[in-house]
Amino acid sequence: MSNPLASDLNAMRQAMERTANPGRFAQAFHLVPPVGWLNDPNGLCQLGDTYHAFFQYSPFSAEGGVKMWGHCTSHDMVRWTYEGTALYPDQPVDVGGVYSGSAYVEDGVMHIFYTGNVKREDAYGYDYVNAGREANTVHVTSTDGNTFGPKKLVMANADYPGDDTEHVRDPKVWRDGDTYYMVQGARKKDDTGEVLVFSSPDLERWELCNRITSNTRFGYMWECPDYFELADTGEFANGAIVKVLSVSPQGLHGGDWDRRNVYQSGYFVLLGDVTQTCTLLPFALWDAGFDFYAPQTFQADDGRRILIGWMGMPDEKTYTNLTVRDGWQHCFTIPREVTARYGRVLQWPVRELEDFRTNLREQEGAIDAEDTKTFDLLIDDIDFDQPLTVTLAGQMQLTWRERRFEMRFLDEDMESTGAGRKSRFEYLDELRNVRVVGDMSSVEVFVNDGELTFSSRYYPEHYSLSVEAPTAQVHLWDLEVKA
Ligand code: FRU
Repeated sequence: MSNPLASDLNAMRQAMERTANPGRFAQAFHLVPPVGWLNDPNGLCQLGDTYHAFFQYSPFSAEGGVKMWGHCTSHDMVRWTYEGTALYPDQPVDVGGVYSGSAYVEDGVMHIFYTGNVKREDAYGYDYVNAGREANTVHVTSTDGNTFGPKKLVMANADYPGDDTEHVRDPKVWRDGDTYYMVQGARKKDDTGEVLVFSSPDLERWELCNRITSNTRFGYMWECPDYFELADTGEFANGAIVKVLSVSPQGLHGGDWDRRNVYQSGYFVLLGDVTQTCTLLPFALWDAGFDFYAPQTFQADDGRRILIGWMGMPDEKTYTNLTVRDGWQHCFTIPREVTARYGRVLQWPVRELEDFRTNLREQEGAIDAEDTKTFDLLIDDIDFDQPLTVTLAGQMQLTWRERRFEMRFLDEDMESTGAGRKSRFEYLDELRNVRVVGDMSSVEVFVNDGELTFSSRYYPEHYSLSVEAPTAQVHLWDLEVKA
C-alpha cells in the first residue's frame, strides 16, 4: 500500500484487532466487528460460492469514529469469517469516511458504489448540512473483495438536485434490461426525505431520472434506500410483481412514532415505475424491536432475496450495549429471506440456519429450558384468543394480549439485561405463529410467518427460556454453530 494514510490506518487497525477480547456476550452466529464499532451492511453480494458482506467499521472505538469498510465472507450466511478491511478513507473524495454503499456483480466483477463523505472547513458558513459536506458517489471494482481498482468519482454535489441539502448518500445499484439504475437517499432543503433515482448506460455516466417521496412529508432524511421486486408466492396471486422501496427515515414524530425508535426502517410497496411515475402505499416497518436500522438486500444466485439489517440504533441515548466495556458494539441481524404473499412482505431466517438445529424438544402449551444460549424456538398453531408469554433470561418478555404483541424488559436499569431498553409493541389482527432466534446477546422475533419482526440486543446474567401458550405447539432447538 503506497498511500501513507491507508498504510497507517491499516497498521493501527491491525494493532487494535490484536487487542480484541469480545467477552461473554460474543455472538456465535451473527456477523460482528472484530473490535470497535459496526453499523450498516454494505456491498452485500454473492460471487461464485462465496457470500460477501461488508460493514461500516470504526475499529478504534466501540463508540464509533472514522468509517471504513470491514469485510466478511461466508459459504452459508451463518458462519462468517472476517477478511480484513477492504476500503479506507484515503483519497480526497472520501477522506471523511467511506460511507455506505452497495455491490452490483456482473461477469465476476463486483462494482462497488459508495458515498465518499468529506467535511470541509473551508466552505463559507459550513454546517455540514447546507455547506461544507461533499457527498461523492464513488465507483470501485474488485474480483475478490480484498483488492480493488482505483476509486473513480462518478457523481458529486453538483450532480444532485439544487433543492437538496448536501445530505445525499448510500447508492444502491441494479440492472434492468440494458440500463443500470441507482437509488440514493436525500434530505431536501425544506427538510423532506426523498429517494433520488439515477440511470446509466455503462455504470460511469449517471443521470437523474426520478425523485420519489411520499404524498405527505415523512421525516427529514431517508437513508440507505433499496429497491427490489418480488414475485408474489400466494397461490392465487399468479406471481404478480410486488415492488418494494426500502428506506430508513429520520425525523418521524407524533402519534405512534413517539413510542418507537429514534429512527425507523421500513418499506413502501410502490405502484407504477420506480424510474418514471410512481406512487407509494403506506409505510410498513421492517422491524418493531429496539435494534434494527439501515437494512440492505441482495439477490443470491439461487434467486432468493436476502435482507440483512444493522442490529443497532444510531443516536440512541436511553439504552446502551454492555459490550462497549469489552471494546466492541453492534452486529448484523441474521440474514433473512424476503418473500411476498398476497402483497405482504415477509422475512424469515435463511433456511441454512436450520442445518444447525439440534436437540429438539416439543410440547403443547408450555416449555421451560435452562442454559438457552443459542436457540431456535417455534410456536405455531396458536389460538390467538389466548394470551401468550415467552420469558427469556427471566428478563425479556414477549407477550400477546388483546391484539397487542409486546417485547418488554422487566428491569429498565442501564446495567440490566436490557441495558435501559423498556418496551416496544405493535397491534396485530391475529397471532398465528412466533419464531424466536436467540444468540448470546441478541434475540430476533418473527411474527406471523415474518410479517413483522422484533430485533433486540440483550445481556443476560443467566440464560433460560419459558413459554406459556395454551394449546399451541412449541418446538425448541439448540443452535450449535461452530466455526
Ligand atoms: C446510516 C448511515 C448512512 C451513512 C452511514 C455512515 O446508518 O448514516 O446514511 O452512509 O451510516 O456510517
